[in-house]
Amino acid sequence: MVDREPLDVLEAIHSTPARRYLGSDPIPDEILWELLDAAIRGPTGGNSQSWGWVVIRDEEKKATIANWWKSIFEATYGKADPSALEQGGRVQTGAFDKVVEGETGLDASGLRSVTYLANHIGEAPVLIVPVLRDVVDQNESTRRGLVYGGFIFGAIQNLALAARAYGIGAPLTTFGTGPELDKLLDLPEGAASMAIIPLGYPVKGRFSQPRRMPVEQVVHFDTWGSHKGRS
Ligand SMILES: Cc1cc2nc3c(=O)[nH]c(=O)nc-3n(C[C@H](O)[C@H](O)[C@H](O)COP(=O)(O)O)c2cc1C
Repeated sequence: MVDREPLDVLEAIHSTPARRYLGSDPIPDEILWELLDAAIRGPTGGNSQSWGWVVIRDEEKKATIANWWKSIFEATYGKADPSALEQGGRVQTGAFDKVVEGETGLDASGLRSVTYLANHIGEAPVLIVPVLRDVVDQNESTRRGLVYGGFIFGAIQNLALAARAYGIGAPLTTFGTGPELDKLLDLPEGAASMAIIPLGYPVKGRFSQPRRMPVEQVVHFDTWGSHKGRS
């Protein structure tokens, strides 16, 4: 049995941020199976389990995916100079000009970590692509599509929490998913790649509490807008 931290479930929930600074050390197969076996304990509507979990270790495929990931990142956030970022410099291009240190959204350190991942995702030892079957249908309403997302994200969080117990980072990303990725992985008709989750041992940062708005601010009692203090 490989070393696993004995973590209380609430402790794990409160200490699993998106760890994006991942090294390239390999993840033992035994642990990989543990993580995936935890993921598939997650829920699906009617327990349909209409999913598949693609484990990508092939260097060529990882490099292709890394390129897609980076180009979508740059389209979203703008170009940043990775060498300046790695030296801790402040980059004044693209989204870095727009960083707002508010209650929501990525702050400067969050953006730095996404930028790091954009430049290093292909170095993670494993990329996991969760796939949902029978979801690509032109006639589906958007709302049904929204519900389908729920078929996979509970399981993805299980994966992140199980990874946390082994000291492994498993940040959820959706950049790079789409028809090209579906084709690269030879997915069956009607199936869609839902995320790309790099797995790796973090080389920077720590398992700290995710930063969120206060719970009292986002919880409503009986009617929207009716807040209460926490007793
Ligand atoms: C549906 C969804 C898609 C996401 N896509 C990306 C992504 O493409 N790239 C990325 O770096 N993070 C992605 N994230 C992670 C969020 O940025 C992250 O959960 C959020 O910033 C909170 O981070 P924290 O838990 O470390 O505080 C995604 C999260 C969700 C729920």
